[in-house]
Amino acid sequence: MQRSFQFSYEVFDSIAALNDSDANLLNCAKEITAKAYAPYSNFQVGSAAMLENGEVVVGTNQENASFPVGICSERVLLSTISSLFPDMPIHTIAISYTNKNGVSHSPISPCGLCRQSLLEYQKRTKKSIRLILSGMDGEIFVIEDASMLLPLSFGGKDLE
Ligand code: THU
Repeated sequence: MQRSFQFSYEVFDSIAALNDSDANLLNCAKEITAKAYAPYSNFQVGSAAMLENGEVVVGTNQENASFPVGICSERVLLSTISSLFPDMPIHTIAISYTNKNGVSHSPISPCGLCRQSLLEYQKRTKKSIRLILSGMDGEIFVIEDASMLLPLSFGGKDLE
């Protein structure tokens, strides 16, 4: 027997092709990259979430001289949301970056730890998190449900 997993996502040519609310959220993520603390990688990541209550919350990556201590923008964002608005569903998260090492066009894709954290938040609120993934410019990916990025995932049910 074989099983397969597949998912599709939307691709937009540029931020100009997004609707106004998605473009605004992505601009928030882009702007907040300036406040990242990333002196070691020079890769400044910004994320912005639109919550179900209409609030916009932002996050940035926070690095440390002891490298593994650093935290990605997405997990800073989720922890902030969870502290300010516990159990509030997240409608959409936009993520982008400023790479001070050079111009880069690839849409960012959350790391494995962040995918696990996104999934936990989705499961907790029982609502999909939509993702807008962007590079410094160029194509933008829109994924309707963050769980698509983590097939065969581990979750709380496995501990029962
Ligand atoms: N980083 C994020 O904040 N989010 C991602 O999705 C990928 C990577 C951060 C971690 C580290 O501070 C820097 O980018 C380089 O890996």
